This record gives sequence, C-alpha cells and structure tokens, in this order.
Amino acid sequence: MPKLDPQTLSRRLGNRHDYIPAAGFDFLLPTYDLLTRLLGAPAVHAELIAGAAITPGQRVLDIGCGTGNLTLLAKNTHPDADLTGCDPDPLALARAHRKAHPATGIRFDRAYAQDLPYPDAAFDQVLTALMLHHLDSETQAAAAYEMRRILRPGGGLHIADVHADRLPRLLEDAGLSCDEITPVRQGHLGTVTYIRARSPR
Ligand SMILES: C[S@@+](CC[C@H](N)C(=O)[O-])C[C@H]1O[C@@H](n2cnc3c(N)ncnc32)[C@H](O)[C@@H]1O
Repeated sequence: MPKLDPQTLSRRLGNRHDYIPAAGFDFLLPTYDLLTRLLGAPAVHAELIAGAAITPGQRVLDIGCGTGNLTLLAKNTHPDADLTGCDPDPLALARAHRKAHPATGIRFDRAYAQDLPYPDAAFDQVLTALMLHHLDSETQAAAAYEMRRILRPGGGLHIADVHADRLPRLLEDAGLSCDEITPVRQGHLGTVTYIRARSPR
C-alpha cells in the first residue's frame, strides 16, 4: 500500500483544516505545551536559537510558531531582536498571544509557510521547529521558496525537524545553500535534524 503524506493521513483521521494543528487535533491543543515539554522540545528550541547566533536589531521570523514557545524563548534570549511568529492555526496563535502579553517587539501573524504575507528580504533570520514534517513534499518545496524570498541576501535559515531527509535537497532547489546538516538523537522525539542554510548574497 502506498505511504500516505501527512496531510492526507491527517484528513483521513478526521482533521478538517487545511493544515495539521500542533497536537494533531484542536481538542488536544491544551495538552500541547506539556506534551512537547515532556518530549524534549525546549532543548530543541534552545539548540536552534544557539545556532542562529541572533544579533541585536535583527528581524527574526519563526514559521509554524504554534503556541509560541520558540518565538518567546528567542525573544527572552535576545530581547533586542525583533521577533515575529506565524502559523495558520488561530487557536494556537491565541495561546501564543496570551503567553507573550505584554512583551513588546514580538508579534504573531496568521500565515502559511508556503504563502507568507511578507515582502521580499523582510527578515535577517528564519527559524522553524517541528513544522515542516506536517507538510507534503510539494508544500515543503513551496515553503522553501518562500523562506528564500523573505530572507535578506546572506540571511540565515535554521530548521529543526523530524523526518527531514528530503529537506536539504528542497532547500538547495530553492536556491539556499545548506551549510550544516546535523542529525541528533533527542530523547522521545527520536532523531531531530538541525539544518543551517543561507540565502545567496
Ligand atoms: C508540532 S507544531 C510545532 C510548533 C512550534 N514550532 C514548536 O516547536 O512548538 C507544528 C505547527 O506547524 C503549524 N503548521 C501546519 N501547517 C503549516 C503550514 N502550512 N505553514 C505554517 N505552519 C504550519 C501547525 O499549526 C503547528 O502549530
């Protein structure tokens, strides 16, 4: 039997959205932060932020921010950076908003990775954690082009994800150069691959 892509599988399981929500289904969203903490997501977020070496004043976008954990950690670690998180799920974004309040220099937008509502070269750095495995390969390819488009020349893309085997090829096809690809066994999450890529100068 052919393997189903994640979005088709999710629809067959009853998801009625055109995206896979953070915890698979809306009713599980309240469990998401606790569950991912237990699975080891905070360590993944910390590693991703350390690798990005964000500097003061940089414009940083977290794509597929969910309930905002990575966005908020990045802001707390680099208070002088300008942070934006985006996600298609309004329920997750509402949680992110609540957690961020009343921090300044941080905003959340409703947006899809494959159709970002930002101008060309709008960001110095892009972060994305545990999001791309929610997309089928065609949507991942479109997202890779969008990431390149919204990064300034020489800007950095920092990915941490599971099932990331085909991502480096998609990023290179979109015109990004992959500088580092590091698979790490990360507790209950299994193998998380960290990819550092750069948009051309
Ligand atoms: C497993 S959660 C990860 C959330 C967050 N990055 C974290 O590390 O906690 C995956 C997120 O990807 C979002 N997502 C699903 N499809 C998306 C798409 N096409 N574009 C952007 N985000 C998407 C989901 O809504 C969900 O919030």
